[in-house]
Amino acid sequence: MCGIVAIIGHEFKVTELIEGLKKLEYRGYDSAGIAALNGNQLIVTKSVGRVDALRTVIEETKVIKSGIAHTRWATHGAPNDTNAHPHTDCTGKIAVVHNGIIENYQELKTELISRGHVFKSETDTEVISHLIEENFKGDLYQAVISTLKILKGAFAIAVIHSDMPNVMIGARKGSPLVVGCNDKYCVLASDVTPIIRYTRDVIFLEDGDVVYIEGNKMRITDFSGNTIVRKHTQITWDESAAEKGGFKHFMLKEIHEVPEAIESALVGRFGQDFEPVMRELDEFNLESVKRILLVACGTSYHAGLVFKYFAEKYLDVDVLIDVASEFRYRPIRITPDTLTIAISQSGETADTLESIRAVKRAGGKVIAISNVVGSTITRESDVTLYMNAGPEIGVAASKTYVNQLILLYLLGLYMVKKRGMWANEHTEISKQLIDLPRLIKKVISNKTIESAADNYKNYHHFMYIGRGINTATALEGALKLKEISYINAVGYPAGELKHGPIALLDPKFPVFAFAPKDSLYEKMRSNIEETRARNARIVTVATEGDEELKKISHDVIYVPSVHEDIYPLIFAPVIQLFAYHIADKRGYDPDKPRNLAKSVTVE
Ligand code: AGP
Repeated sequence: MCGIVAIIGHEFKVTELIEGLKKLEYRGYDSAGIAALNGNQLIVTKSVGRVDALRTVIEETKVIKSGIAHTRWATHGAPNDTNAHPHTDCTGKIAVVHNGIIENYQELKTELISRGHVFKSETDTEVISHLIEENFKGDLYQAVISTLKILKGAFAIAVIHSDMPNVMIGARKGSPLVVGCNDKYCVLASDVTPIIRYTRDVIFLEDGDVVYIEGNKMRITDFSGNTIVRKHTQITWDESAAEKGGFKHFMLKEIHEVPEAIESALVGRFGQDFEPVMRELDEFNLESVKRILLVACGTSYHAGLVFKYFAEKYLDVDVLIDVASEFRYRPIRITPDTLTIAISQSGETADTLESIRAVKRAGGKVIAISNVVGSTITRESDVTLYMNAGPEIGVAASKTYVNQLILLYLLGLYMVKKRGMWANEHTEISKQLIDLPRLIKKVISNKTIESAADNYKNYHHFMYIGRGINTATALEGALKLKEISYINAVGYPAGELKHGPIALLDPKFPVFAFAPKDSLYEKMRSNIEETRARNARIVTVATEGDEELKKISHDVIYVPSVHEDIYPLIFAPVIQLFAYHIADKRGYDPDKPRNLAKSVTVE
């Protein structure tokens, strides 16, 4: 997820584009750049780091009539000046900024190189500028729509050409793009935040739309050139609300981004017959792995715990998991058939990093799962599977937890395939992962989650219980509530209650129970009965249509039925929204919880 802003029309200071980028920095902030047209001269300026770094290398007084700008969240190619956008073609006349992922960029790049094009960056985006160059016969619009037809994946782009300083083209498929014009300028951007200082009358472009802008006039067409009329929207939000997309907090926005984040994580991940694709792992001899070490912290550790259950069930391997702060100080035994998986959304967590270094010193190989391209963990691991969740501003992990789970399920399925253990059940799980964004949208719009939160907002203690793979969900649910509402929440395997924790329960200590219709359903039901017998108030998450649990619970939150081993994915937005609403109703800021940091870079 990157941020695009582009302005064309009357003269304006290049700093207008910098201000626009600042508004989009929550979308990505590892490098930035501007391509400015001054007459027929195209000036491209790029810099690694935040937008302020770019401001220091820009001639602030420069006045231009057209410019495109970008703030980046790397997916292909480490954050550096070369990989920063905009990207130009061989002539240096065409400049492109892009948000999204071009799936077929590798084969397009190979073809273009065979035709003599010279590439400067490692990005997927650069193929777009060279393809436009390849298709350019004097008409930029025609060159762009010919190019769009052969791109696979998700994109929002803005394009300029120094031979036509009065023209700008924008297009979208899968990534957001908004346009707004006033009597002087037209502005294109990834969301309304940079536009509302010029006009509050905008058009949210739809997938397959191309916008042709000349001066401050625009025309919208489809990819075949047919004119389309789109409705205008009047924006009433103030700028800070706009950054949150109209949501009250980043955390709530990021929970609502889960379906889109899953789609980004699944891009290019399935081949024939729903079998997973992981080219990054071609060098790994996964067939011979007998022992998996999992290391992570906090929410990432809980994602690892879900993988442990999945891997032990389907891969016939031993899985050892530990929190990194313990793992790094324990003797590490690495055998030739040991694989280590390190999970870290930020890619900078000190304990996880030191654990990776310890494994490397012991001669082990490490697969990292991370969300930040170029982060230290991704550089020190042998290979990284990227989560593609986009930047997460809220300190409490939400969409990144879900994308960690997605990558771990994909890794598990890929190892099943590599080890010749593929069965219909795995095809079914793959199909359900692909269908997940639809089901998660249903869960997120389920109003009973907020009303349940309202019923429990004044308690000071909470116990989360689950069985099997949902023991991890119970631990994660408790962590979410702890870290943003400061309620003393504990998570336990439900079968462990009678060995002590049940002593805690009374009318002031409610229970959050995960009881899906799976092979441990009956066991969970009797555990709920146990807690009920201690007068605890119970909120249960159950599979749609299960009326039985209503009889033994005070509140029931229903979720769609899925394969029993992927319920942690369906339960994730439930625990995140429940904790979010309780924190919000208690008057706390869920985005910046006390005592916590988004990335723990110290021991
Ligand atoms: C989760 O909401 C917390 N932010 C925290 O537990 C986090 O998961 C932990 O610090 C690990 O961070 P990482 O994934 O960036 O390594």
